[in-house]
Amino acid sequence: MALILGIESSCDETSAALVRDGRKVVSNVVATQHELHEEYGGVVPEIASRAHIERLWPVVDKAVHDAGCEREAAGELIDAVAVGNRPGLIGSLLVGVAAAKALAWAWGKPLIGVDHIEAHLHAASLGGDAIAMPAVGLVVSGGHTSLFFMESASRIRLMGRTIDDAIGEAFDKAASILGLPYPGGPIVDKRAVNGNERAHRFPVASVGDRACLDFSYSGLKTSLLYAVRGKPVGRGKDAQFERDHTAFDDAAIDDFCASFQKAAVDAIVKNTKSAVDVLRDQHGVEVQSLVVGGGVSANSRLRAEMERLADELGLALRLPAMGYCLDNAAMIAGYAWHRFAAGGPFDGLDLSPSPRGEYEGL
Ligand code: KG4
Ligand code: ZN
Repeated sequence: MALILGIESSCDETSAALVRDGRKVVSNVVATQHELHEEYGGVVPEIASRAHIERLWPVVDKAVHDAGCEREAAGELIDAVAVGNRPGLIGSLLVGVAAAKALAWAWGKPLIGVDHIEAHLHAASLGGDAIAMPAVGLVVSGGHTSLFFMESASRIRLMGRTIDDAIGEAFDKAASILGLPYPGGPIVDKRAVNGNERAHRFPVASVGDRACLDFSYSGLKTSLLYAVRGKPVGRGKDAQFERDHTAFDDAAIDDFCASFQKAAVDAIVKNTKSAVDVLRDQHGVEVQSLVVGGGVSANSRLRAEMERLADELGLALRLPAMGYCLDNAAMIAGYAWHRFAAGGPFDGLDLSPSPRGEYEGL
């Protein structure tokens, strides 16, 4: 039995959680900063790190309190302290890493720095069973769009990634083009329900040949921009457009949302299917499960389409519960359990944050 405290502060969510034995979430507290970044249409790093400093200790205290304890005595209950130390905004990561080190040192417990993206792939198993391996793992978020081969829960290799925008970033930019609030993903998802997905034919990005599993979302974003604003006159920042989103009524905005969302999700489904084929045909690996994680795994169309794909391929589909799609510390504490259970390796007090993650290729 192991109880791990997780801390997450890589972007604009401050979170702390207590997770028992990797999958049983005892408490999970998330403080979002959306209201602070809304007027800028995206996360402002300096504002994010300051907000983490203000929120971190109250969030840790609440997570510990929700588990029926107080911070002063928590060291007796907690077996290890885990923190997402990469990838992310460096100033934001620094706040969580410093707090985790302080607690691990004060309590004399092991410190475990984990990769935020790999932790997203653990979210689908929180509150449920272990995932049947090997698996294809998909991380779709505001900062990442990546496909992984999951040989086991903690041995993960990169198969493809976006060469430009992340899918969540594309949703956020689409919302901004359509005059909808930040973060754009949830609202585009909601507005798409009443829209006609065939109203516009947006491109489903294809990068390289079938064996190339990379993604590209900048072309889709530009297609939407031109469809909404018309042809630009001039170039770059000085470009003048014929119109903006105010030229369209609510039904037309719904249609843009539905058509955009269809193209964005179709690219994900296409590459996920190819990843399963590549693993079988080129590596002799019979995949057992499809695993999805990251903020965009909350998207209703993506969830439905992945279910359809898993059915077609006869695979188990593991989606995170809605509360664990967005950034949260439960996935950090849960993922760290694999290292705790293996007896390490643990990190020292020289653990540092890194803006980049490093993933071994296939
Ligand atoms: O995983 P996350 O909290 O942060 C990163 O690690 O990036 O993901 C946030 C992203 C945002 O871009 C947000 O617009 C998107 O997830 N998102 C959605 C939905 N809910 C959140 N995108 C599409 N549909 C949704 N329902
Ligand atoms: Zn994330």
